[in-house]
Formats: sequence, structure tokens, C-alpha cells
Amino acid sequence: MEELDKYWDNIHKNYTSCYDGWLDKYIDLLKNDDVIVELGCGRAYASNYLMEQGFRDITACDFSEEALKVVREENKNLKTMNFDMSKGLPFNDNSIDIIIADLSLHYFNNKTTQYIINEIYRVLKNDGYVIGRVNELKEIEKLNKGSVKIEENFYYEEPIYKRFFDKECLEKYFNKFEIYRISEERMDRYEKPKVLLEFCMMKSK
Ligand SMILES: C[S@@+](CC[C@H](N)C(=O)[O-])C[C@H]1O[C@@H](n2cnc3c(N)ncnc32)[C@H](O)[C@@H]1O
Repeated sequence: MEELDKYWDNIHKNYTSCYDGWLDKYIDLLKNDDVIVELGCGRAYASNYLMEQGFRDITACDFSEEALKVVREENKNLKTMNFDMSKGLPFNDNSIDIIIADLSLHYFNNKTTQYIINEIYRVLKNDGYVIGRVNELKEIEKLNKGSVKIEENFYYEEPIYKRFFDKECLEKYFNKFEIYRISEERMDRYEKPKVLLEFCMMKSK
């Protein structure tokens, strides 16, 4: 994992983007005093946006120290935490209202993906939400030639692993949650348009 965080350090040194509006439709689900955590925040576009909307208790998390350095420089009010989410989430049970995971849950094998989602369930409060976006299955055809299939819907495209989802497998991974929304979306942030599955799941009692 050490090498992977260095890979992301390099990406974050050389790449900038911006918030693309995807969270707007969920703002009414959030309450002012919610405890919010962003997993795999990168430059924390989502966290910064939520802070602009008046939310205060936000922790932006990543395992790329380079990304977190930029986040801290740009926004002194945002809390940051450096950890590898594949090793678990360092939060107490039932302690978080909202988890944001934008383009950060699609790098893990089946077992680790389910483990992270179980961890999300553990740390969310009842009626808390996890809101995110992941690669849709259609993105498989855009993988570089020479990418290697490791498991169903999980590939190694040097130097990183990538997972792809359809609605059915999202429902399976999040089977302990109540589905608020799963929708296919297109994102134009990168050179080529990207097809994503956006999801919002509620931890029900
Ligand atoms: C495609 S970027 C998305 C960044 C940001 N959420 C955004 O949408 O701009 C994926 C992020 O996930 C982080 N990441 C990947 N694997 C991780 C892991 N095991 N633990 C913590 N963060 C991880 C990377 O460092 C990177 O910042």
C-alpha cells in the first residue's frame, strides 16, 4: 500500500479539478450540526463545498499526505486525517452522520470492498447516509490494453487496481442499507467522459 499512496501523491501534485455540482441534490438530507467524513478526499472538493454551505464538522480523509497538505493549505478550518481505509475506519461505532466517498471506493478487491462498506455501516449513526460515486461497468472497455482481470469486475491497470460496479452489485455490497438513490451519471471532469454510478444509502435501524 506504501507504493500506492506515493502514486496518489504524484497525481495530487500534478492534477487539479473542481467541484462539479453532484452533491447539490443531497444537501437537504444534511443537518447543520452533522458530523461529516469524506473518505479518499483527494483535494477535498466535496468537503470544501460542504463547508461553503455552512457545515462545520467535516473531516477530510485520505492516505495521500500530499493531497492532505494541499487541503490544509487551502482550508484551515477543515480537519484532516491520514489513514488507509482498506485497513478499517478509525472512528467509533455509530459516531458519524454523513460519509462522502467520491471516486474513492473503486480501488479494492471484493473482500476489501465489502470490508470497507461494513466499516462504513459500523461507524455511521442510525439514519446516517453514505453518498458517493464509483466507476460503472461500461468503463471497463476504456481500460488500457494489457490491463489484467484479477476478479469479476476488478482489474489491474498498471500501476493501480480498479473495480467497476453495476446497480446489482452495489445493492449487494450495501445490502444492510436502505437505498435512497442509485443512478447512472456522466462526468466530464477528465479528458474522456466517465460513466459513474452515484449512490446514496441510509443506515436503517
Ligand atoms: C480519484 S481520487 C478522488 C479524489 C476526490 N474524492 C475527488 O473526487 O476529487 C481517489 C482518492 O482516493 C484515495 N485513496 C485511494 N486508496 C485509498 C486508501 N486505501 N485509503 C485512503 N485513501 C485512498 C487516493 O489517494 C485519492 O485521493
